[in-house]
Parts: sequence; C-alpha cells; structure tokens
Amino acid sequence: MSTHLSSVADHARWRTVDPLAQCRRDLHRRAFAARHPFAGHPLFSIGALTAVAEAAAARAGDVYVDAGDLTFADKWGATPPPALTIPELFERIETAGAWIVLKHVDADPAYKALLDEYEAFLLDIAGPDGAKLLSHPEMIVLITSPRRKSAFHFDAEVNFLAQVQGSKDIWICDPLDRSVTTEEEIERYYAVANNAGTYKPHAGDVARRFTLQPGDAVHIPTHGAHWVQNHDSVSVSVSMNMELPRRYADIYRANHYLRRLGLKPRPPGRSGFVDGSKAAAVNGLRQLKRLVARNAAAGASPPH
Ligand SMILES: [Fe+2]
Repeated sequence: MSTHLSSVADHARWRTVDPLAQCRRDLHRRAFAARHPFAGHPLFSIGALTAVAEAAAARAGDVYVDAGDLTFADKWGATPPPALTIPELFERIETAGAWIVLKHVDADPAYKALLDEYEAFLLDIAGPDGAKLLSHPEMIVLITSPRRKSAFHFDAEVNFLAQVQGSKDIWICDPLDRSVTTEEEIERYYAVANNAGTYKPHAGDVARRFTLQPGDAVHIPTHGAHWVQNHDSVSVSVSMNMELPRRYADIYRANHYLRRLGLKPRPPGRSGFVDGSKAAAVNGLRQLKRLVARNAAAGASPPH
C-alpha cells in the first residue's frame, strides 16, 4: 500500500492529517501522517547543521556516520566509518553516499524550543492517560546523500520522522507483525544490540509505503520495522522521539535471558503478574549491580 503525502496546507505548526481521535487510537499501533513546521527553517539548513554536527562530535556517541552502497538488509556498524572529517562529509554530501546521524541536537536551546513544540503536539495526541507514559524527548537529525538507502530496523522510541529537505520513501510495518519483527529480535534489541532487526524479503509486501516531501511527517510506532530509500537529492530529516517506561524494556530483557536458559518466555502483555515479576527482577539486578559498583568504588565488599 502506498500513501503519498502532498505538502499542501498549513506548515506553521505540528498537526495531524486525520482527526485527533483517530490518531490517538493509532498512536503506538499503526503509522499515520502529520505535518510539521521545519521545512525551510534556517536551523535545518546544511550550513547550520554543519555547526550542529561539529558540536555533536564533541559529545561521546552523538554522531554516527557511514557511507557506501548499502542495502536494506545491511546493518549499521558493519561498514568502516568514512575517512572524511565532518565538514568534509558535509561538503561532499552530494556524492559521498553518506548517512549522517546527529543525536541530542536539542542540547542547543534553539533546537530545544522546537522540540518543546513537538512534545506538546505528541502529548496532545496521546491524551491525558497516554501522556503519563511518555518521557525524555529527543531530537535527532539525519542527513543523507542522494539515492542512499537506510537499513531495515525498529526502535524502542515513540517516533515521528519529519522531512525537511529532499524527499524519500519510507516503508513501515505493523509493530505487532511477528513475521517481520520477532519476539527474539525485540528481546535482543533491548538486551544485546539495537540493530537486532533482520530484513525479511516479504516485509515490502506487508509494509505501508509513505512518500515524504518537505513539510510531511509520519508516525513510526515502537517496534514497527521500517527502512528508507532517499530520492535523487540530499535529504534532511528530523527524528523526534519520546520514551515509554523502562518497565517494558525490562520485560523483554528478562525474556532474552530466559530464552538463553532454554525456556520459551511469554511475550509481554499476556499476564500482568508475570510481566511485573520480570520487570521487578531486571530492575532488582540493576539496583544490585549499582550497589556492588558503589561498594567496590568505596573499597567495601558487596552485601550478602
Ligand atoms: Fe528508525
């Protein structure tokens, strides 16, 4: 299925395309379209983003770059980083085959103000009860060379992807389709590596395709597998994220360890008691680890 998101109408603020009540029902469950105010904004010009990239490079782990003719099935981290500096990459972005990811862009107050507007939009969609589950807003900027692909993956965050410059196709799958995203992959995502999702040839048949033009945004549900094909010009996209409670991640982590013990753990959501016990166990282990580390640092022996 393909949904073309034409960039007409009001781009002065974040807004949904479908009625709010429908988007509230769809949040976390299925992809839906929105509009955003970032297209043409001077803070997202390539010149402004070069400075943002240099600031991000000074923070550990806040820049990821790869380059090359990658496929949807490739995993990030599998190719050596390009032998170019950040300014060189930006200068050669037309031909570098690059995918540049800048994290925590909201460290700069000017971008944080834009993130605050987005947060108010998302909390409005979530409604009073849903809003209580959301925390830790973050802005990530993605700069991509022409025709570059971004690999199949899924995320833990509640996400909107906003297209600022250039255009691209994004395929988004049902987050509950376990033929595309398996329980084991979700468990590995939380316990081992965030590129645990593996491309399946049939995923393109069951995904919804959205074509994003400047001003268009799309909601990508948590655990909804997605992958991206950039069109013929340089793309700037902004990934707007908020987090769900750590409890859910802890249930998947517990299941990962139970599976390693040879068990077949129950997926989250089937039993409140079992889910609560797993989350409590992982959280208890985390507290114990912290206590041991603190005592070791203080030269004391761990409690027993
Ligand atoms: Fe993503």
